[in-house]
Amino acid sequence: MAKQYKRYLVTSALPYANGPVHIGHLAGVYVPSDIYVRYLRLKGYDVISICGSDEHGVPITIKARKEGVTPQDIVDRYHAIIEKSFRGLGMSFDIYSRTSSKTHRRVASEFFRKLYDEGKFIEQTSEQYYDEEAQTFLADRYIVGTCPRCQNERAYGDQCEKCGSTLSPDELINPKSAVSGSVPVKRETKHWYLPLDQYEGFLREWILEGHKEWKSNVYGQCKSWLDLGLQPRAVSRDLDWGIPVPVEGADGKVLYVWFDAPIGYISATQDLTPDWEKYWKDEDTKMVHFIGKDNIVFHCIVFPSMLKAHGDYILPENVPANEFLNLEGDKISTSRNWAVWLHEYLEEFPGKEDVLRYVLCANAPETKDNDFTWKDYQARNNNELVAILGNFVNRALVLTQKYYAGVVPACGELTDYDRETIEELKKVKGALEQNIENYRFREALKEAMNVARIGNKYLADTEPWKVVKTDPERVKTILNIALQITANTAIAIEPFMPFSAKKMLDMLAVEPFGWEKLGSMELIEAGHTIGTPALLFEKIEDEVIQKQLDKLAATKAANQAAEAAQHVEEQKDPVNFEDFQKMDIRVSTILAAEKVAKTKKLLKLTVDTGIDKREIVSGIAEHFTPEELIGKQVLVLVNLQPREMRGILSSGMILMGEDASGKLVLLQPSEKTNNGALVG
Ligand code: MF3
Ligand code: ZN
Repeated sequence: MAKQYKRYLVTSALPYANGPVHIGHLAGVYVPSDIYVRYLRLKGYDVISICGSDEHGVPITIKARKEGVTPQDIVDRYHAIIEKSFRGLGMSFDIYSRTSSKTHRRVASEFFRKLYDEGKFIEQTSEQYYDEEAQTFLADRYIVGTCPRCQNERAYGDQCEKCGSTLSPDELINPKSAVSGSVPVKRETKHWYLPLDQYEGFLREWILEGHKEWKSNVYGQCKSWLDLGLQPRAVSRDLDWGIPVPVEGADGKVLYVWFDAPIGYISATQDLTPDWEKYWKDEDTKMVHFIGKDNIVFHCIVFPSMLKAHGDYILPENVPANEFLNLEGDKISTSRNWAVWLHEYLEEFPGKEDVLRYVLCANAPETKDNDFTWKDYQARNNNELVAILGNFVNRALVLTQKYYAGVVPACGELTDYDRETIEELKKVKGALEQNIENYRFREALKEAMNVARIGNKYLADTEPWKVVKTDPERVKTILNIALQITANTAIAIEPFMPFSAKKMLDMLAVEPFGWEKLGSMELIEAGHTIGTPALLFEKIEDEVIQKQLDKLAATKAANQAAEAAQHVEEQKDPVNFEDFQKMDIRVSTILAAEKVAKTKKLLKLTVDTGIDKREIVSGIAEHFTPEELIGKQVLVLVNLQPREMRGILSSGMILMGEDASGKLVLLQPSEKTNNGALVG
């Protein structure tokens, strides 16, 4: 028999406050965790759901540097955006906290200090990469180089995003500072290490023996880490953003972000309730961590070792990590803007929160990486939400209005077919529970939708709109059953689509039923008056989808151009000095510019070369407007053999810079110079 727990503590990975949340985060972590906690609450369990922003770490300081603002500015901005968008999607965290809070600083410091006082850390001086130009040590993402495993040239000091390997800065080939681009030197520095190797025995027994039921991707990753052998892991960094290491002589050192962040679950719980200890210190609490697969080692190996070392706290009972979601066949990437951003979705698709929740759950990367496509989004909305769920509910309610002015008819004698339908409906509850409790949310969602499917089929088979003409008494029973199924649908979909469940209850004019009533055929009494039916879902047209695809295509084009722009042409063959001397290049001013009639690319320019005023035809009309050229000083090759173009004699050539993407820039003297000044 599985252990009976008194309460649940559910955590969702704290997102880094260095950018907004996208569908990959949602499908991997937040949608499943919200389904889980909504279900537990409906069951009436004591459950708290914890989340918040992860506000330390190098990704945040890098972003701040790039924008020329402080790390605090960055986290304030994204904490607000993330929290608002989570609420917008109906994420029902009991607290959405942040790791820059006072409570967190205290809790994380105390945690470190206890381990320090009890001698649980190793103190060690070693040589680490140092950027002399920026005067900073280069840990984690501050250092980039070539991945020793897959040769990706843009691997970070802590991880290669291409092959997913965990790395240390010393493993990088051709390391370079991400701060200044300079080649780093080695310098001595002292840090504190958690000797993970000492926890290997405990971890083996706890995970490999004790948690064989964990998802195979999670169990497998833990096993391969343990089989490779664990090393002591540094829990401090030389940075000025983070929680100061709370010991003497640790100036300029902060806690490693992966040390402080998971403690954020504890500090958030303290901020939520004075009764926090029962959630963290009582073996009768079931703790579950929802995370993405890149977080597995931290939640299954590092944090549990920290908790074990501390001694006061319980361990997670499960860590149902998901794989990754791709977008239209490509890896989601914040830096390349290849994502569907939650805050943008909520703005562009108001009222369609549940559609996104539905699609992300139906297609969640539970056992393997999966792909989100806008076509699939449209198809699931139109063919499943509209055609099955929406259609069924609407028919049941509209027919009740039409035949009985909204008053629920009584159920008469049941036919065999009615009984079969009811039997089928009663099976749903157990299947749904089994699936949710075992973190199979895709299957669970199918079961929930099955309630609507059963209802839809029931109406299609019993055809009350026909029977009403011949046997009106029978129709009362049919619609009573259809309304009971509607009420059941509202219960079953609540964890997945809370907005729609609420709308359905409002349309039925009833209060929430609670989970245990699922399967009952006595949810709505005869004689009760229902409310006004409205459409639950609406069809999504091709134009709407095309707009999203166009947006992604524009992103792709911009990325390709940016990449191409990085490409530099090889050097040309040598020329001798005399040949170079033959070219007569002069500073000139563009006096006039106009498009050459009937051409797309040509501009006719009148320039003052200092020698004379002359006309030059230039193929730059797609890059510059005449207005932006007039009055500019440029460099002109004046002794280029004149030639006639479109009836205009062009005498010279304007010099331009061109990158590999074809982008043109004018070459101008850095300050105003007299026309005719020689270039050479
Ligand atoms: N910020 C991390 C990420 O986005 C997750 C931190 S989870 C926590 O990958 F447990 F450390 F908080
Ligand atoms: Zn790699």
